[in-house]
Amino acid sequence: MLAVAMRILFLTHSFNSLSQRLFVELRRLGHEISIEFDINDRVTEEAVALYRPDLVIAPFLKRAIPESVWRHTLCWIVHPGPVGDRGPAALDWAIEEAATEWGVTVLQADAEMDTGDVWASEMFPMRAGSKSSLYRREVSDAAVRAVKLALERLGDPSFRPAPLPVAADGSRGRWRPSIRAAERRVDWSDDSTAVILRRIRAADGFPGVRDEILGLPVSLFNAWPESRLRGEPGAVIATRDGAVCRATRDAAVWITHLRRIEPGREHLKLPAVQVLGADRLNGVPEVPLDPFATLDGDTWREIECRIEGGVGYLSFEFHNGAMSAEQCRRLLTAWERLRRTSARVLVLLGGSDFWSNGIHLHRIEAEENSADASWDNIEAMNDLTRAIIETDDRLVIAALRGNAGAGGVFLALAADEVWAAPGVVLNPHYKNMGNLYGSEYWSYLLPRRAGNDAARNIMGNRLPLGAPEAIRAGLLDAVFGSDTADFAEQVCLRAVDLASAPDLPERLVNKQARRKQDEARRPLAEYREEEMRHMRLNFFGFDPSYHVARYNFVHRVPQSRTPLHLALHRRLSTVSGKGTITRNTT
Ligand code: COA
Repeated sequence: MLAVAMRILFLTHSFNSLSQRLFVELRRLGHEISIEFDINDRVTEEAVALYRPDLVIAPFLKRAIPESVWRHTLCWIVHPGPVGDRGPAALDWAIEEAATEWGVTVLQADAEMDTGDVWASEMFPMRAGSKSSLYRREVSDAAVRAVKLALERLGDPSFRPAPLPVAADGSRGRWRPSIRAAERRVDWSDDSTAVILRRIRAADGFPGVRDEILGLPVSLFNAWPESRLRGEPGAVIATRDGAVCRATRDAAVWITHLRRIEPGREHLKLPAVQVLGADRLNGVPEVPLDPFATLDGDTWREIECRIEGGVGYLSFEFHNGAMSAEQCRRLLTAWERLRRTSARVLVLLGGSDFWSNGIHLHRIEAEENSADASWDNIEAMNDLTRAIIETDDRLVIAALRGNAGAGGVFLALAADEVWAAPGVVLNPHYKNMGNLYGSEYWSYLLPRRAGNDAARNIMGNRLPLGAPEAIRAGLLDAVFGSDTADFAEQVCLRAVDLASAPDLPERLVNKQARRKQDEARRPLAEYREEEMRHMRLNFFGFDPSYHVARYNFVHRVPQSRTPLHLALHRRLSTVSGKGTITRNTT
């Protein structure tokens, strides 16, 4: 553990999952963190002059740090590759080339990209997953370990960072460029399922693999293997819950999302069936799969229910954790079916990457009337949340293997107990989406758990919370496991224990009594009505902030400045006259 608390500036392209994870982890160690988005060199120089950081860390950068900064301030680049790996497409290449092991390296910024001295590096075994899934899980965990190690070494006066070894031709490390669109193509008649999956996963969530389906040029996202369905290689042979299944030469793959490619127009990433349209898919059979069905081989399904040891588990693998109205309704149906089983404890497992990120902003954006679509989506979220709150004859656990944001966090709070894996990051607020008021019964659920003052703070501060901080804030009940896999195993053990605990009937009686009391004090319907009164203004009112913020979010419009709630240095200091900087210490 580092003895000295430092002032650390994160220079980052955006406040993405990795930056958020490092933010909560390093603050937990006692460091002060301020954030500046990498907008241009002058703005970066200004941020460094204002903040005078002890250290700059670049968790997610698309350009080099200006020399004027790294010459005078220690700067670390978090590179998602092992020692010696260089270039902007590190993970893409690792997946393409089926690496069995990969790493994260903390390098000192230098004149040439990714050639600085190495402060720390951590390896991890590769998993068959998409680039973004690996990034959110294995890369983030390894990056936290590597940055913490580098910080420890920084406190050790005898430590010297190691230079990259120089090859015979004088080069340092192995530079690999971006992968060109043409190199990412799939040949459906020739490529095996394994190659196709790797290719799509290496380009997922950005930029996607360019292809053509039923005559429509598209980019492909989120692919899963299918071992039972067969057809002519390349043919679309089935649909399921918005995804399409395409035959390969040796099996088939499900593709859940597409982005239409049209010169001069920027289309959204949406469910494949929606992008292709009913006419193109005419004659392609919908092949449903019951959430309770036992699987025989590989396939894809969004909602899965299973009962084991008196416990009912419900997982919902919604892409990016976004939940459309239709997905909420399907989930509600599965929940109602689970309630009719004999399971005494019900565990909401969410997805493996995200537990939930609330209403589906892309699908809302794609609708002709986005205000109506927002309303419909939030009503469906609310119906689901209410059904969970009103489940008074079972103990309900929300087990967060992945992060949750906005309405997704409050959906989890509808459970009796909320557990999380140690690396989970929560964003329990709506304000970043154009000052959205939010619903999902948050005005009942949050004060009920955290108290009124804490609830106001949580909603107002707009910052991510790590799992241990979320426990302190009253949002979570337990954080355990050495990692996500260990957490998932322990969830089952704990849930089975709860289901067979002698005090379960008493707990349920208490739960019913509390719900009755709460309802008598203020009916759930009133909380909802009030929240929805605010939401009506957000969706249909004069102030378009939510619609603008949603548009910017789904189209990934780059930010032109760092929001003040992140840029501590811009709140603490002012630049006066010709570049004179005053640091306010109040
Ligand atoms: N609806 C649709 N897509 C969503 C989404 C949502 N609610 N939340 C996240 N996504 C998508 C992003 O567009 C992105 O898509 P990509 O596949 O093109 O990359 C992907 O999920 C990952 O999101 P990103 O913002 O890059 O992830 P992150 O881990 O860095 O940040 C959040 C996580 C939760 C902070 C951030 O995604 C967010 O603010 N989401 C919106 C939450 C919200 O306001 N919901 C509506 C109110 S209930």
